[in-house]
Amino acid sequence: MSEFHTPVLLKEVLEYLKVKKGEKYIDATVGGGGHAEAILKLGGEILGIDCDPEAIKAAREHLSQACPSARVSSGDLGGQCASWRLAQGNFSQLGGMAKRQGFDPVAGILFDLGVSSHQLENLERGFSFQSDAPLDMRMDPSLSVTAADLINGLNKGELNELFSQLAQEKHSRRLADALVSARRVKPVRTGRELADLAIKTLGRKGKLHPATRIFQALRIAVNDELNNLKKALPQAVELLKPEGRLVVISFHSGEDRIAKQFFKGEEKLRVLTKKPVRPTEEEIKVNPRSRSAKLRAGEKIK
Ligand SMILES: C[S@@+](CC[C@H](N)C(=O)[O-])C[C@H]1O[C@@H](n2cnc3c(N)ncnc32)[C@H](O)[C@@H]1O
Repeated sequence: MSEFHTPVLLKEVLEYLKVKKGEKYIDATVGGGGHAEAILKLGGEILGIDCDPEAIKAAREHLSQACPSARVSSGDLGGQCASWRLAQGNFSQLGGMAKRQGFDPVAGILFDLGVSSHQLENLERGFSFQSDAPLDMRMDPSLSVTAADLINGLNKGELNELFSQLAQEKHSRRLADALVSARRVKPVRTGRELADLAIKTLGRKGKLHPATRIFQALRIAVNDELNNLKKALPQAVELLKPEGRLVVISFHSGEDRIAKQFFKGEEKLRVLTKKPVRPTEEEIKVNPRSRSAKLRAGEKIK
């Protein structure tokens, strides 16, 4: 699995989901199926959702190998794993998808937000600084607007807003100016071109590449990630049975703010994590991508 994506905060996810044999769980961001596999091996039945058809294909291949007993979709454990099924779609439509698949009510729902290592490392998908492919960044290829469309189509004020609000870039105006000047000569088409422009404009301070937050912000805008999360969380609570668990892992302050406010304001939930749970130093060492992860969890009140 580590080739596709190493699941983040795995032990903590299992602890907070409190997986029980024979109960149903939704993995709303199945990716390569790492978390899903662990839930299946504890006997939880899984509906895995992802908006990226490549992720669904990878999860199917992986789970077919790791959890073959699940081919008998009977709910009977019949071996090592419980049964599983996969559905391609956006979790903003979680309620309808879960009902259509017979996953209502469920004992737990997991959101492991953002992109998978596979998406980041597949240069053709245009998520990476090193990519010479078109700046795409759509997780769902049927979306109509790409990152290149935004970079070359937004006006200076809109670019400034994107970089200041979503990337919290102090020098957002400087970067927006530089981009508008650069694209007067020729459009910014690739990840590498955008990353080079970010280094030239913002300089290189500290360990983090100056384009890291810029790329994350662009990706969040292309995929409308914050709005999708806002739409999904209330649907998730409705799907939970009493004492069912909701677990959200975020990698961006905007996502974490949405999760935090939702958990705080939702009267049907008891918050289980006063402070977000962070990966240990050990996990960060083994999997540096886990470094910004924050996990929040809640339990549906009876
Ligand atoms: C961090 S990865 C999940 C990795 C997974 N937990 C594992 O162990 O392999 C996040 C996944 O969520 C998917 N995703 C992001 N936003 C989504 C949305 N709104 N609806 C459905 N899937 C989404 C991405 O395509 C990606 O595959």
